[in-house]
Amino acid sequence: MMSSASETMEKLVSLCKRRGYVFQSSEIYGGLISCWDYGPLGAELKRNIKTFWWDAMTNRRDDIEGLDAAILMHPQVWHTSGHVAEFTDPMVDCKVCKGRFRADQLEHAHCLNKPSKTPETCGQSELTEAKNFNLMFKTFMGPIEDDSAVVFMRPETAQGIYVNFLNVKNSSRQKLPFGIAQIGKAFRNEITPGNFIFRTREFEQMEMQYFVPPAEDETWFEYWREQRWSWYERLGITMTKLRWHEHKDDELAHYAKAAFDIEYEYPFGWQELEGIHNRTDFDLSRHMEASKKDLRHFDEATKEKFIPYIIETSAGCDRTLLTVLVDAYDEVEVKGETRVFLRISPRIAPIKAAIFPLVKKDGMPEYAQNVYADLKKRFKVFYDESGAVGRRYARMDEAGCPFCITVDGQTLEDNTMTVRDRDTMEQSRMTVDEVVAFLAERTAV
Ligand code: GAP
Repeated sequence: MMSSASETMEKLVSLCKRRGYVFQSSEIYGGLISCWDYGPLGAELKRNIKTFWWDAMTNRRDDIEGLDAAILMHPQVWHTSGHVAEFTDPMVDCKVCKGRFRADQLEHAHCLNKPSKTPETCGQSELTEAKNFNLMFKTFMGPIEDDSAVVFMRPETAQGIYVNFLNVKNSSRQKLPFGIAQIGKAFRNEITPGNFIFRTREFEQMEMQYFVPPAEDETWFEYWREQRWSWYERLGITMTKLRWHEHKDDELAHYAKAAFDIEYEYPFGWQELEGIHNRTDFDLSRHMEASKKDLRHFDEATKEKFIPYIIETSAGCDRTLLTVLVDAYDEVEVKGETRVFLRISPRIAPIKAAIFPLVKKDGMPEYAQNVYADLKKRFKVFYDESGAVGRRYARMDEAGCPFCITVDGQTLEDNTMTVRDRDTMEQSRMTVDEVVAFLAERTAV
């Protein structure tokens, strides 16, 4: 029997395809495992999430600068950072079902012959000894494919920030404490990708590195934990579905002194959404030693030179998008029919409002088209005149659109139209100027 968790995920995956949020990559060729493409609504939602993050982490602050570093970096970066030696997961193979599993997550894995069992409980497995598998993708730079041409696809965006620490500090004239924020693609050759866009081999990260005097690391660590927690509240996530997970010594990454994950309760269980790490002076010290460049900060007040500590906030953009969709998904029984609502916050909803003429006559379509043209200059809006108005509402509810604006007979008399709220179902009458002010207020990030 199918578990309700997989049923929920199946419904979401199918909604994402139907409404143009997420498609399987290269689908006409049978798809490429763990790779996904964002459709019209998905691309818009992803862009809105990134803007929401960028705005909170850079535009509204004086102490954080933005950066957009290259994906391909000097290979020495990854030797120095410890990723070549240590960015590994333990892997085992099953000689019977030919499955390949993470040795440290066997209790969550599924035997390929008996998917309802784990590889350890299926009763027929023959597992090999665990061996370490490096997660970095490699490629070659230039036409010669030999060892000297190997470059890595970055597995985190953070290193691009560390190697630019001096460039950003000097060009922006920032003083400690200050941060550098970046959004960009990262690649990991995960042994077991899965759960839709939760764990993939190509994904986007939204990372910020905050450089602080070593003695202040714990204060800033707490500060960033609070900031990142409240960001999810503003994003509209159900806060009772979030919790903290503290990394114990055996879980800490090779660079971290302390780490807390923000976890979300997905249909498939509690899992990491974002990590907040105290990376100490690990990265800058190693880059300073390997590059022979002085990456120390000179403190004008104390006349001291020191290597800053780094507090990192590292969120997955695709994972945040999945969290938004899972959290927003709602089913309501209406007159014996199951209706789907995607209750995405107006701040990040891909389409902010839909404009309908009640009927396709009496000048209503022309009036509604003019309203649409007006609103389009400021908001992502959608015009729809096809089918019964009830069906049009239902389509927009399922697509995650928070407001529907209907032009009716009264509009032609007093220039007011109804604005219907997806979540409260309240309808209010407004003029077009009032609609603009209303949407501006409700969708402001
Ligand atoms: N720079 C630190 C770092 O990369 P991480 O905990 O390995 O830390 C940070 O990753 C975030 O990136 C995770 O919390 C998750 O949201 C996202 N992430 C990591 N691996 C991912 C994957 N394979 N697929 C999708 N998102 C991933």
